[in-house]
Amino acid sequence: MTKTPTLELHGLQEVLDGISRAMERETERGRVADFIPELACVDKSQFGIAVALSSGEVFASGDAQTQFSIQSISKVITLAMALGRLGDGLWARVGREPSGLAFNSILQLEQEGARPRNPFVNAGAIVVTDAILATSEPREVLAEILQFLRTASGDNSIHISELVAKSEANSAHRNLALAHMLKARNNLVNEPSRVLGVYFHQCAIEMTCVQLASAGRFLMSTPETNLISAENIACINALMMTCGHYDGSGEFAYRVGLPGKSGVGGGILAIVPGRASIAIWSPGLNEQGNSALGTLAAEKLARRMGWSIFV
Ligand code: DON
Repeated sequence: MTKTPTLELHGLQEVLDGISRAMERETERGRVADFIPELACVDKSQFGIAVALSSGEVFASGDAQTQFSIQSISKVITLAMALGRLGDGLWARVGREPSGLAFNSILQLEQEGARPRNPFVNAGAIVVTDAILATSEPREVLAEILQFLRTASGDNSIHISELVAKSEANSAHRNLALAHMLKARNNLVNEPSRVLGVYFHQCAIEMTCVQLASAGRFLMSTPETNLISAENIACINALMMTCGHYDGSGEFAYRVGLPGKSGVGGGILAIVPGRASIAIWSPGLNEQGNSALGTLAAEKLARRMGWSIFV
């Protein structure tokens, strides 16, 4: 727990500024997501990074105060809420194995009886949102997700972009296919349109790196950040490590060595258990739909700080 205290307190800002400068020079910046039209026009020259410590102190560099669409990073919050409500009962409906396929693939749903591989692929996240809807109305679920993030980050300005939610809803054929397949195979209680209405809105939450790093502290397992149980923190971090970057999860574990969750808005949340919460954003994505520069920056930061959980 005290691996690099001096560097952590005095050198972190310099490390982040150095990474920001290095990222400015990168020419391989990936491609912005274009299946959500509203995300296709985001300028991919942007890069932001923030690190929050359990003390509440936040270090940041680059475009760390610019809002971006958190997209699949919202799946971490709905998973926390579903585990809080259902506990282990959730696992009857969704698995805990990496899929080795794209985040929006429908292949395994047909082959494996509609129990999605894990809560982070789209099919699994749709089931998780459906599970939360068992006890609350759509409006209440969205209010609860927002409240969770506002409480975790200590920032009440976090909000949902209606524009992005609508933009996704208008071009949502794959997610509609997934939800209807789940419904057809009895793994969706609510109507597909009701579940997807919530899902598109949770994905359309906008945050800055500073807000996201601050919010992520709830996954750090320290006495200061006890928003959910220690058991559920351990479950979520394990799933982030094995499934958080979809078919790029092995590569992220290999290069960064931290539990992480990506979103097609170009954000990454990574947790250094007991020590720090990291948020990185750069809109260009790699082949697996994860931020290209975000992954590179996370790798540099983890190396520089000695933060990989494997060393
Ligand atoms: O459902 C979708 O396809 C998007 N709203 C979210 C996907 C996503 O962020 C995948 N992550 N890298």
